[in-house]
Amino acid sequence: MNLATRYLGLNLRNPIVVGASPFSDRVDAACALQDAGAAAIVMRSLFEEQIDYEQKALVHHVETAADSNAEASSYFPRFEEYQLAPDQYLKQIERLKGSLTIPVIASLNGVRPGGWTAYARKFEAAGADAIELNLYQLVTDPELSADEAEADVLETVRRVATSVKIPVAVKISAFHTALPQYCLALEHAGASGVVVFNRFYQPDFNLEEMEVEPQLKLSDSSELLLRLRWLAILSPHMKGSLGATGGVHTAEDTVKTILAGAHAVQLVSVLLKNGPGYVSTLLAGLQRWMADHNYESVEEMRGALNLKRCPDPAALERANYQRILQSWKV
Ligand SMILES: Cc1cc2nc3c(=O)[nH]c(=O)nc-3n(C[C@H](O)[C@H](O)[C@H](O)COP(=O)(O)O)c2cc1C
Repeated sequence: MNLATRYLGLNLRNPIVVGASPFSDRVDAACALQDAGAAAIVMRSLFEEQIDYEQKALVHHVETAADSNAEASSYFPRFEEYQLAPDQYLKQIERLKGSLTIPVIASLNGVRPGGWTAYARKFEAAGADAIELNLYQLVTDPELSADEAEADVLETVRRVATSVKIPVAVKISAFHTALPQYCLALEHAGASGVVVFNRFYQPDFNLEEMEVEPQLKLSDSSELLLRLRWLAILSPHMKGSLGATGGVHTAEDTVKTILAGAHAVQLVSVLLKNGPGYVSTLLAGLQRWMADHNYESVEEMRGALNLKRCPDPAALERANYQRILQSWKV
């Protein structure tokens, strides 16, 4: 049985990839994941704000200028609160590369074109096999149009992709008006693959303190459905790779994600809950399913339920929404 897949031009022994998370902070944890069968690991992100902060801090140090924006910047983590400072991040790439045989994908997290994108070259020089660019964008400015916001992002992708030889994947949110067109534009800008979808960490309201409370809840399988639908829709159109992140918790989830069209299936929450060894449980389940359903290879499975190949494409589209609503009676 052949589990191999090609993702971002990299040959992976199977589709299971550890998603961006604290697992990459510890070489022993990364090795345990590799031993359990993970085919690649994405590092936690280095943030645009972190790099800007360091660059500004340098200027501040030289010019001893006052921070005119202290209140706004206090919402962001303080420099020392980030787990890996930019230079430590580069050293961590080297450490991981020194201990692992699977590809190491470094992650840059930011939106606007700027000096921070120069870190892509540093990632490459430190040995990263690919870069995942996380475009976690939350537009709150009513003056900014969708076209303008997306143009910024596309320019960022273009700059990063043209500055390195290693492949660049782009991790996006689901909140775009015309997602297929946007994904093709990302490819056109130089992305070798698109990862769907960023999970927005949704703050809650604390009614006693009358405050907005940040919270981080791990996912469950119900979050996969949004990904499955869009993977299935995007899969026939994309020339490059499709990665999935969000809500993969079981072997069945893994199977569905590949059938929808993903080349790589990223895991975080399930591994934080169950530990690195869980990768082997998922791989065993994937192989069992393939044997039961007469699939010889992951390649053969991939996209078998995408919008072009599934028996009832309407189930993925607007028609089904109408049918489902009409089927309810009280
Ligand atoms: C503790 C934690 C840290 C994370 N750090 C990052 C990060 O630095 N960069 C990033 O792109 N995503 C980060 N993520 C998001 C994950 O990579 C992933 O996209 C998300 O958790 C959905 O996948 P899951 O359902 O398998 O958890 C983080 C998630 C968790 C739970």
